Amino acid sequence: MPDPVEKEAILIVDDNIITCEVIQRNLKMSGYQVFATHSVPDAIQVLKHRKVDLLITDYKMPKHTGLELIRYVCDHLKDIGVIMLTGYGSINSAVAAMKEGADEYITKPFTDQELLDTVQRTLQKQKEKKIDPAAIYTDTWSRFGIIGQSKSMLKVYSKIEKACKSDAIVLITGENGTGKELVARAIHYHHKARSVYPFIPINCPGIPATLFESELFGHVKGAFTGAVQHRKGFFQAAEKGCLFLDEISELPFELQAKLLRVLQEKEVARVGETKLKKIDVRVIAATNKNLEDLVKKGLFRQDLFFRLNVINIEIPPLRGRGDDILLLARHFALKYAKELGKEEPAFTDKAVNALKTYFWPGNVRELENLIHRNLIMNDTNFIDSVNFPDIMKFNVPCDQCLNLSLEDMSKKYVRDVVEQTGGNKAKALEILKIDRKTLLKKLK
Ligand SMILES: Nc1ncnc2c1ncn2[C@@H]1O[C@H](COP(=O)(O)OP(=O)(O)O)[C@@H](O)[C@H]1O
Ligand SMILES: [Mg+2]
Repeated sequence: MPDPVEKEAILIVDDNIITCEVIQRNLKMSGYQVFATHSVPDAIQVLKHRKVDLLITDYKMPKHTGLELIRYVCDHLKDIGVIMLTGYGSINSAVAAMKEGADEYITKPFTDQELLDTVQRTLQKQKEKKIDPAAIYTDTWSRFGIIGQSKSMLKVYSKIEKACKSDAIVLITGENGTGKELVARAIHYHHKARSVYPFIPINCPGIPATLFESELFGHVKGAFTGAVQHRKGFFQAAEKGCLFLDEISELPFELQAKLLRVLQEKEVARVGETKLKKIDVRVIAATNKNLEDLVKKGLFRQDLFFRLNVINIEIPPLRGRGDDILLLARHFALKYAKELGKEEPAFTDKAVNALKTYFWPGNVRELENLIHRNLIMNDTNFIDSVNFPDIMKFNVPCDQCLNLSLEDMSKKYVRDVVEQTGGNKAKALEILKIDRKTLLKKLK
C-alpha cells in the first residue's frame, strides 16, 4: 500500500450556508480537508490557528467583504492560494479581487468540474511558489551541515574540500556570526585521519595574558605560584586533532612570537621546563578583523600573519548572500518548530521583504535568534514582520539610499513608516518621535 498522501486543507467562506455545504461536499469527495465559516472574522480565527493551503471566499457578505479577507491574507500569510467567488455579471469585483492578490475567480453559478479544476490549478501554482525543502537541504547540507547555495558560499565549500584534504594551517575570516566556527568544524570532521581526534576551540581573548602560555603549552609542577601539579596544555590535548584559535587578532603581541615558533618548529615546551616535545596538531585560526590592516598598524606580527594565511577562507556577510537568507530562515523555522513541538510556520510577504532587505549586522547568528524568538513568543502559525524589531520593519534597502540626499532620505523614510503602519499617523508619530506638523511637511 502506498502511504496515504496528506491532502491539502481548504477553507470556504460564504454567508450562504447552502453554498458552503455544496462546495464542501464536492471537495471532500475529491479527498481534500475542508473547513467552512460564514463570516470574515470567523475565517481569520481559523487562519490564525491552523494551516490552510487554499481559501475560497465569497465576495458579498454582510459587514465585511471578501476583499477585506483577501487583503488580510496577503498582508499576513504566505503559501496560501486564494479563489474569489463572484456573482454573475460582477466582473468589476473579480478584477478588484485579482488586484488585491486573489489567484483565480469563479463566477456563480459554476459546475462541480469548474470548481475542481480551479482548485487544482490554484494549488498547483501555490506549490510552485513554495520553497522546496530540497532547495534547503542540498548535498552541501548533508556533507558539511552548512546551508546556502549562493555563489559566494559555493566558493567557501570548494575551499573546505581542499582544506580537509590537507594539514595546512587555515585562516578563516568573516564578520561575527557568519559561520566561522561551523566551517572550522566542517574541515576537521571531514579530515580522513584527524576527525577521530579532538577538535579544541579556544577563544583567545577569553584567556588572561598571564596564563596564556601555560594554558596553551602546559606547565610543570612548581613552574609558578599556583602550579601545584603538572598540567597539559591545549596543544598536547589536541594531539593528532585540531586546535581552533578563535579571534586570533586578540593575541597579545609578545605571545604572537611564541605561537609563531611553535607553528614553525612543531614542538612545545611546558612552562618551567626546557625540554621540547614534538606535537602533531592541525591549527585553524579565525578572525573578524582585517589582519593585514593590523599588520600595517604594527598591532599584529607580519611573520605570524604569513604563517597563518596558508589557506584563507573568507566567509561573506549574510546581507550579500541573496536567497540564502530565506533558506536559512526556513531552516531555523523548521528546526525550532520541531524542538518546540509546533507546526512549521509560514512566512508572510512582509516578513520575507524585511528579511531580504535588513542589513544583518549580526549575520546568521542574529537571524537564528530572531526566528527562535518568534517561534517561542508567537502563538499563530505564521511569521510576520509585526513581531520583528522596529529597526527591521522600517529598514530601507541600502542600494536605494546611496544616491539620495539626507533630506530626501528622511522624507522617504517617513513615507515608508507611514506606509508600513497602514497609514496610521498616530502610530507613525510614535515611531518617528516627531510632531504632527513636521510629519505633514515631510509627506507633502
Ligand atoms: N550557513 C549556515 N548554515 C547553517 N547554520 C549556520 C550557518 N552559518 C552559521 N550558522 C549557525 O549560526 C550560528 C553562528 O555561527 P558561528 O560559526 O558560531 O559564527 P562565527 O564563528 O563566525 O561567529 C551557529 O549556531 C551556526 O550553527
Ligand atoms: Mg565564533
